[in-house]
Amino acid sequence: MAVYSSVIDMIGNTPLLDVSRLSPNPSVRLFAKMEGQNPGGSVKDRIARQMILEAEADGRLTPGATLLEPSSGNTGIAMAMICRERGYHLKTMMPSSVSVERRQMLEVFGAELILTPGEEGSNGAVKRALALAEEHPEWVFLYQYGNDANPRAHYLTTGPEILADCPDITHFVAGLGTSGTLMGVGTYLKEQRPDVKVFAVEPPSGEIVEGLRSLEDGFIPPVFDAWGGQDLLDGKSIVRPLESLEWTRRLVSIGCFAGISSGAALAGAVKVAGRIESGTIVFVVCDAGWKYLSTGAYTDDLTAAAEHIEKIVYF
Ligand SMILES: Cc1ncc(COP(=O)(O)O)c(C=O)c1O
Repeated sequence: MAVYSSVIDMIGNTPLLDVSRLSPNPSVRLFAKMEGQNPGGSVKDRIARQMILEAEADGRLTPGATLLEPSSGNTGIAMAMICRERGYHLKTMMPSSVSVERRQMLEVFGAELILTPGEEGSNGAVKRALALAEEHPEWVFLYQYGNDANPRAHYLTTGPEILADCPDITHFVAGLGTSGTLMGVGTYLKEQRPDVKVFAVEPPSGEIVEGLRSLEDGFIPPVFDAWGGQDLLDGKSIVRPLESLEWTRRLVSIGCFAGISSGAALAGAVKVAGRIESGTIVFVVCDAGWKYLSTGAYTDDLTAAAEHIEKIVYF
């Protein structure tokens, strides 16, 4: 067993799980990149580490600094964990409608919670953070949607890990939130293997799958444009909330306790698998299911659970 001196050093190097038995096409293999194994419980540990270490290196972050981040979801939790470890103070802006586990995780790591109106959703929290950052130039705002360190974390770590563990990869499928995962991994894979196809999973415009956003809803994350997202993506798989839950439950049925965006990513991968003759698809399981237990996602009647998850704001 390796011995680490900090939880930060335990981020990344997550395993791939072969879930090909869920593939609708016997000639297409499916592999899940198990990001719930990170110490903060999600893929966002990678970008929180990269954003914070880069800000330390270029002098934006100095000992005892205060940071802002508009996220009640995985990025907020990852930032809170690393800020705690390195002695920074974190203020997180989030809609009042977020699930109780989210608030509790942030409190565990000592983050200060600033609630914004639930009906304004995550955009309200981003707006408040931008206003606070302007009022308080002494606070450090790393802003995952516009920070190159976000895709860079995936370019430097997630992408190389996937190719090393799955040299036969033909397709990469991931949910789109900030787009950091797709931009960083997609850029790396296409540099190394120009034939690899990259697919984004998005909900239909106006529908909510936790962690994901539709680019049709009007907000294009600055990192998507900066990394040439329009040219990088080979296509999109549109996945509805009900399908996300169905495929999350199928992952659970083979013992893989994944969060709801992972079911969405798998549903997207299955659609791609149905359209190709043969291949090897890697998709991302962003987190495990712990934070979603109170939503009934795993146990309630499927239709009721799908209606419920659409009302909750997760990021
Ligand atoms: C659970 C979950 N899945 C998927 C995503 C999307 O990843 P990315 O922001 O890299 O596009 C996020 C991002 O917020 C998330 O929290």
